Amino acid sequence: MSWWRHAVCYEIHPRSFADSNGDGIGDLPGVTAHLDHLRHLGVDALWLTPCYPSPLADGGYDIADHAAIAPDLGTLDDFDTLTRRAHTLGMRVIIDLVPNHTSDTHPWFREALGSAPDSASRDRYVFRPGKDPDGTLPPNDWQSAFGGPAWTRVSDGDWYLHLHAPQQPDLNWRNSEVRSAFTDVLRFWLGHGADGFRVDVAHALFKAEGLPDAGPGQHQDPLRNHLMPYYDQEELHPLYRDWRTLLNTHPARPGACSPDDRVLVAECAVFAPERLARYVRPDEMHQTFNFAFLEAPWQARALRQVIDGSLAASGSVDAPVTWVLSSHDAIRPVTRFGSELRARSAALLMLALPGAVYLYQGEELALPQAHIPDDRIRDPLWERSGHTDRGRDGARSPIPWSGSAPPYSFTAASPDQCWLPQPPDWADHCVDAQRGDPRSCLALYRQALRLRRQYPATAQAPLRWHSAPHAPYLAFQRGALACVVNLGPDPLPLATLGLPGHPVLSSTPLTGDTLPPDAAVWLVTESGHRP
Ligand code: NOJ
Repeated sequence: MSWWRHAVCYEIHPRSFADSNGDGIGDLPGVTAHLDHLRHLGVDALWLTPCYPSPLADGGYDIADHAAIAPDLGTLDDFDTLTRRAHTLGMRVIIDLVPNHTSDTHPWFREALGSAPDSASRDRYVFRPGKDPDGTLPPNDWQSAFGGPAWTRVSDGDWYLHLHAPQQPDLNWRNSEVRSAFTDVLRFWLGHGADGFRVDVAHALFKAEGLPDAGPGQHQDPLRNHLMPYYDQEELHPLYRDWRTLLNTHPARPGACSPDDRVLVAECAVFAPERLARYVRPDEMHQTFNFAFLEAPWQARALRQVIDGSLAASGSVDAPVTWVLSSHDAIRPVTRFGSELRARSAALLMLALPGAVYLYQGEELALPQAHIPDDRIRDPLWERSGHTDRGRDGARSPIPWSGSAPPYSFTAASPDQCWLPQPPDWADHCVDAQRGDPRSCLALYRQALRLRRQYPATAQAPLRWHSAPHAPYLAFQRGALACVVNLGPDPLPLATLGLPGHPVLSSTPLTGDTLPPDAAVWLVTESGHRP
């Protein structure tokens, strides 16, 4: 079975991971120096969010040069060192590819601004005249995902499209130069040892011909967002087939088993499972994050519906489901679910499901969402929402490594020089504190990952439910492993479930044979148990 079908990948937001040079900003040498944390945890791969030169209008997702490393993060040599070291430790390296838009400081966009309407330079982006005779109204009614219109007017009267911040102009993917430039970018990073790409906004590169209005209610019904004229266009699929071929045929890096080990991961905010599955047909992408799972509430029925729907849709195209509970964009699970116990239980649920998993740095430490004071917020959502949405910085507060107060060894700089602040009460969340504590969240994740490896046969085993569809708990079996999650208000006697096996791991200590509310347990049958 290919590694990516059941891999556990770990997302690193480098600016918040570890700072090696004392400037208050995490960097690539900092990641390299802390790879032992990932090895100790037992992950198969790491994914680096964008490390490219960027003015940081959107946390690095506004890229000025796709074939270089941001000076505050290090150098290309630092990237090579990181990748080599990760490979030596047996971990693959996935990097972010951001093809939907560039920074407004990208040489192409600067050239476009200095060129005439209808010029070849403007054709690399989506420039249009306004819709009224005076050109004062945007070309259509599209809204930015960060709030406000998706169009900005330039001095000669033309408008350009940005589905995100105005500093992130959308590229025109029907322009052959754009297409071939990104082929070069893929080749460049494969040449530097990248094992795959997480493709940002993978559902939006092409916009419907004629740019028709989207109508009212945009961004409001996720299950219907594939109907928006700026999402999920058919032309995406031949593009991803080409990229898959490119990955499969690019020479294997020394030491890799085969070139088709490489992965394309879609960051695809299309929520209808059958539409999402189309991105992971056998000759397209390998994985696509399951955001429906991330967004599901702490409720047995809702989670079961998402699990069943996702497995059925992915199964129809023979793809693995790629489960995810947190990311640099989402409210951390401890805060979202309302308690550390629930977050731990959700992790045991996710890690018992068939398929691949993405963890996000700090999830294994049970970090809650950090409060970022108004004057330190960097997320463009804060300004774009008129200061009503605090944005995603609370999930990006730097990792606490050791110590009892900020900066918890994240940096040698003082806490107020940290690029984002850390809360004063994170001492118990530090990696060092948790490494020595068998009841810590880190220990739980580590054991769960070890058990996943210990029962390789479960990677292929289908899920069989032992709980009724409307039960307030979830119970299922996969080969030698069974998982029970109690989402109801009452303690759950395990013996009543008729599941084979004995408990090997639980999110909180069991009281006898009873699973407390909000807790989860893994059971293993004797035949499958290999201590
Ligand atoms: C998804 C990324 O995860 C997010 O952080 C970014 O703001 C948008 N794409 C736009 O690039």
